[in-house]
Amino acid sequence: MFLLKPFIMIYMKTVGVGVIGCGSIGKYHIDRCLKLSEAKVVAVCDIDKEALKEVKEKFKIENLYVDYHDLLDKKDVEAVVVSLPNYLHAPVTIDALKAGKHVLCEKPPALNAKQVEEMFVTSKKAGRKLVIGLTRRFSNATRVLKKYVGDGALGEVYLAKCGYLRRTGIPGMGSWFTTKALAGSGAVFDIGVHALDMTFWIMNDFKAESVYASTYAKFGPRGKAAGDWGKPVPGGPFNVEDLGITLIKMKSGATVYLEAAWASFAPKAEFYVHLLGDAGGLDYPAMNLITEENGRIVTRKIECEEKEDPYLVEMRHFIVDCILKDEEPITKPEEIILLQKTLDAILESAEKGGEVKVH
Ligand SMILES: NC(=O)c1ccc[n+]([C@@H]2O[C@H](COP(=O)([O-])OP(=O)(O)OC[C@H]3O[C@@H](n4cnc5c(N)ncnc54)[C@H](O)[C@@H]3O)[C@@H](O)[C@H]2O)c1
Repeated sequence: MFLLKPFIMIYMKTVGVGVIGCGSIGKYHIDRCLKLSEAKVVAVCDIDKEALKEVKEKFKIENLYVDYHDLLDKKDVEAVVVSLPNYLHAPVTIDALKAGKHVLCEKPPALNAKQVEEMFVTSKKAGRKLVIGLTRRFSNATRVLKKYVGDGALGEVYLAKCGYLRRTGIPGMGSWFTTKALAGSGAVFDIGVHALDMTFWIMNDFKAESVYASTYAKFGPRGKAAGDWGKPVPGGPFNVEDLGITLIKMKSGATVYLEAAWASFAPKAEFYVHLLGDAGGLDYPAMNLITEENGRIVTRKIECEEKEDPYLVEMRHFIVDCILKDEEPITKPEEIILLQKTLDAILESAEKGGEVKVH
């Protein structure tokens, strides 16, 4: 009974959450918090009063703020979700950490690696947790694939091909999404980051040596291929890429190919990761393991049910694992800094033309 008491106390606690940014993904996060008995959304913030009104009506949240500093002043806000345009990830995360809040910050981590380093330094100094919303890590399939690679089923992995390809999926045409100063980049930061992080994480290798990249903007500047995500701003800028491809040479000698497109005439819209090792291969999303048996190549289907919504698993990791159980975030600082350094190098390579070292 004596031993059970602290255990019960940990699990009885409810974490007060403040959500900053109530756009598309902010609403997902509010919804997932409401599904967790360990979390309570005590305040939300958005500069758009219409967005606040919608959240108040839909989720019955009373404490609404237009200035995030006011939300950070609230004592019952213990944790903050930063679901803001990319250029606000670093400054708002840093302010929240300094105010003593734990933070779940959306992807891409920030506009550049320098900002990401500052976010993690602040997290360490403040003694507060910082999780980055790289949602693909929270799918069951990703974890299963990582285990196969970790257990050596593929032998030495020397090639990975990954991509996130849309045909007509430019988010928020003319909004912050398509403005370089506010988004940092287009398809590469927005969706390429998911494919690249998932691949590096499965490989358990974030150490890139150099990249060779090209980016294109063939649809956005013509106002074509708008998708459903984000709010369009008619007449707004489009000065980011709508497609990016990259060849990444890893320090290990392995090669990673990444392609990301918001808009393209690709044969199909898809999210894929293919890994080749000297003892086997993996094919996602087919979930096939390709290997050798009795001198023959065999393809085996890995049964893997996606039992839970990855956004809910992500929120549970933040609230329960990181805050209540005081465990370390799955998004380790050293991985996220290297991930952002690779993203930065991709943009630099595309801009300059030719190979760029990741440093
Ligand atoms: N993990 C994922 O799967 C996933 C999915 C979608 C979006 N995202 C990321 O989430 C972030 C937000 O994306 P979104 O699609 O929700 O964008 P969005 O434009 O729909 O929402 C952003 C919201 O932030 C508000 N906002 C802007 N400046 C503000 C400020 N200073 N203070 C308070 N509110 C402010 C806007 O009014 C808007 O409501 C982006 O970084 C995006 O990359 C992640």
